[in-house]
Amino acid sequence: MQPNTHPGGKLAAITFLTMADRDAVAAHIGALAPDDRAMRFGWSGPASPEQLVRFATVLLQAVHEDPSLVHFGGWDASRQALLYMGSFHCPSPRERTVAEFSMSAVPSARGGLTSEVMAWLIPQLIQRGYRKLSLVYENTNPAVAAIAARHGFQVRSNGGVSFGTLDITPQAQVARLWLEKLDAFLALVRPALRSPGARL
Ligand SMILES: CC(C)(COP(=O)(O)OP(=O)(O)OC[C@H]1O[C@@H](n2cnc3c(N)ncnc32)[C@H](O)[C@@H]1OP(=O)(O)O)[C@@H](O)C(=O)NCCC(=O)NCCS
Repeated sequence: MQPNTHPGGKLAAITFLTMADRDAVAAHIGALAPDDRAMRFGWSGPASPEQLVRFATVLLQAVHEDPSLVHFGGWDASRQALLYMGSFHCPSPRERTVAEFSMSAVPSARGGLTSEVMAWLIPQLIQRGYRKLSLVYENTNPAVAAIAARHGFQVRSNGGVSFGTLDITPQAQVARLWLEKLDAFLALVRPALRSPGARL
């Protein structure tokens, strides 16, 4: 597993997933109810441990077919269990600045995980040149509809499927807000840093 790239929250770490994480991915998929598994991975029905490992292998190998595809995961404190699994890719070569995002959380950990992940994900996407984030979900999926509404996605529906789009272009106004926060933070820690052997 790669080092922690996430500074805190319910998820102890968020890392990019590789074949080394295959068993954790298989366990994550196995923890989802068949309906949830179908909505996230298009695979319902019974799944044996062997099938789960095979499916996880194919999923992780798919990055070789689609170079824009990225899988990432949110881990528990022991860094063994994958509580959250997200994937994004560019679905159309004609729209290189659009990333489509899909996600799943194990039932026992649900509650605000996507909001936590969005704070990590959006800078990752901007860094890769994406300017729009899209979500495609069935109208019967209230959790994703609530996520789209909470994060200000513009949503249109067509034949039972909803398409949400969020503009993630970095705005000067947002940058200003972050700089103000940074100034306030620095004002807070500067005096402490001046004392010898300072610890924060
Ligand atoms: C989508 C998923 C990852 C969200 O988990 P999470 O990030 O921890 O999100 P939460 O449990 O906080 O739910 C997100 C929002 O949906 C709401 N919600 C969850 N289940 C709901 C339900 N059955 N009915 C109505 N609202 C619901 C929550 O109240 C929350 O809204 P809020 O942010 O306004 O409070 C999780 O539900 C999941 O794994 N679902 C199955 C797989 C799936 O459908 N993936 C999407 C494929 S695109």
